[in-house]
Amino acid sequence: MNVLVTGGAGYIGSVICDHLLAEGHRVVVIDNLSKGHREALAEEVTLVEADLLDSAAVSDALKRHQVNAVIHMAASSLVGESMTQPSKYYRNNLWATLGLLEAMTYSGISTLVFSSTAAVYGNPEKQPIEEHDPTTPTNPYGETKLAVERALHWYSLAHGLKYVALRYFNAAGATDTRGERHSPETHLIPLILDAAEKITSVAVFGDDYPTHDGTCVRDYIHVSDLSRAHVMALNSLAGGGQSATFNLGCGQGYSVREVIDAAQRVTGRSINVEIQPRRAGDPAVLVASSARIREALSWTPKHELLDDIVGSAWIWKQKFTSAAARYSESQHAR
Ligand code: UFG
Repeated sequence: MNVLVTGGAGYIGSVICDHLLAEGHRVVVIDNLSKGHREALAEEVTLVEADLLDSAAVSDALKRHQVNAVIHMAASSLVGESMTQPSKYYRNNLWATLGLLEAMTYSGISTLVFSSTAAVYGNPEKQPIEEHDPTTPTNPYGETKLAVERALHWYSLAHGLKYVALRYFNAAGATDTRGERHSPETHLIPLILDAAEKITSVAVFGDDYPTHDGTCVRDYIHVSDLSRAHVMALNSLAGGGQSATFNLGCGQGYSVREVIDAAQRVTGRSINVEIQPRRAGDPAVLVASSARIREALSWTPKHELLDDIVGSAWIWKQKFTSAAARYSESQHAR
């Protein structure tokens, strides 16, 4: 298939592109490179450097590259930022997606895999969370992703769209060649590994949550397992499978302190911790029931151990840091 991946130059998108190429698909990425990195894309990927809000560029990419299916990842995705800049989230996550859907409908493209989020659940009443549990987002990030999920339902009835919405829990870890690199970085695991590398401290946002050690509990899923689920969802839709919404997590929760302990084990370094106040919008616990996707797509995570997930991120970071240092030395030597 010819697959368009929006936001494909980002952390998760670049791993998905690798998986698609390995399965023999042709891959076109549309990305404004505001967060993504050109060098995160394999040579075989065609990059259209454009914003998803540029509807002419989107329509042109669909037509020019004879796209058959779309994996839609481009979004603003920081919970905290969404609380202070809701309009950015409505524009980039909802408005831009409606434009994409319109262009797809116009071009007769009816297969879509959509990156949704556990943030649609807000503060869940029970754990692990199942897909039919109430969706009451507590921030504009979750709210805008949920609005898109609802739109997909109505587009499927009106226009025959076939979709899978994947509600990500906490993507983490790295493959041999791709890892997490945001600027500024806000995610826990890269910040912990930064603290390990630079011998600084990591902030723990709240140690008074109603959890076993007082810190927030999350369900960390290796980026490679997350990515594989997208390709399986796409293959299922292409083979006539039903539209569906799936949680995407391992079903195992780890606290912030447990993640720090894992990082100390894999790095062999001691990491200083600074307890800070709670971060606005953070639920205490988010753990997925992944029973539905396991049953429907026969998906199972291959990297469930926290040490494997954190360890893969550490290996990648060391490679990336030494490559960056070599590059900087070569620039100085010129
Ligand atoms: N945390 C810290 N210190 C930090 C950074 C994070 O204690 O310096 C804590 C957070 O408070 C949270 C946990 O570590 O309890 C994980 O935080 P992340 O920022 O790594 O991830 P989030 O759980 O906030 O968000 C992730 C995705 C969102 C998605 C959400 C849904 O980034 O896009 O999971 O579960 F909405």
